[in-house]
Amino acid sequence: MKKYVTKRYLFGFGLVAFSIVYVSLPLIKTRPVEAQTPQTSAVAQTPQTSAVFDSQGRMKVPTGFRKWVFVGAPLTPEGLNNGKYNCDAAGKNCTRSNFPEYHHVYIEQKNVDVYLKTGDFPEGTVIVKELTRVLDPKFPDGSRTEPSGRGYFNGEYNGIDVSIKDSKKYANTNGWGYYTFGHHPMPYDETSEERPISECAGCHIANVAKTDMTYIQFYPLLREKKGY
Ligand code: HEC
Repeated sequence: MKKYVTKRYLFGFGLVAFSIVYVSLPLIKTRPVEAQTPQTSAVAQTPQTSAVFDSQGRMKVPTGFRKWVFVGAPLTPEGLNNGKYNCDAAGKNCTRSNFPEYHHVYIEQKNVDVYLKTGDFPEGTVIVKELTRVLDPKFPDGSRTEPSGRGYFNGEYNGIDVSIKDSKKYANTNGWGYYTFGHHPMPYDETSEERPISECAGCHIANVAKTDMTYIQFYPLLREKKGY
């Protein structure tokens, strides 16, 4: 009697389990396919990028980049450049350096990761170089004294230059496009046209064509290619 009950119980259980599997099989099959479809087609069409363009093809000023990976901060203060730039035709009246500020360079984590694996940035990579003035200069060379010593410290934000990799769109300039949103304090210009070769790409082509158009040699994280 006890056996019989157990058998009937098992049979009933088996039937229920079978029905569950049978009914849910199509669900198990279709779900992953639905989830993958949009992603795959987006990758195939355009490179994934954080850059946003308006209807006239101008790039919109990037946002959120100060939380990307900070790869370096070249500094060319006036104290070290005075007289070298912006002279008149006779080589006199030299005033200031071109970039008397820090040049903070930011790249998204996912693009840094690919660079560290492959030695090349993926299509769609955006690099932002934001300038910040040196904090209130007290000496003629632009420096000041703080408890840590005499030196340069970050002052106000003062402009943004951007480069973006898209080998097809920017085929004429080694696969990178260049944009600038002004060399002045915030607010920055809202949009930028692609800048001509003579203004931007020419110098990058002449000096860093072999390192994906980027001054890798100034960014320790990238030049060592070992990650953190
Ligand atoms: C005379 C040469 C020259 C010109 C012209 C020039 N750059 Fe650069 N650029 C550099 C150098 C050198 C660095 C790295 C060192 C530094 O910032 O001082 C750099 C760095 C950059 C970076 C950071 C990523 C990288 O490539 O290392 C961006 C973005 C950038 N430049 C955009 C621009 C834009 C936009 C313009 C035009 C408005 C421009 N550059 C014009 C020489 C130049």
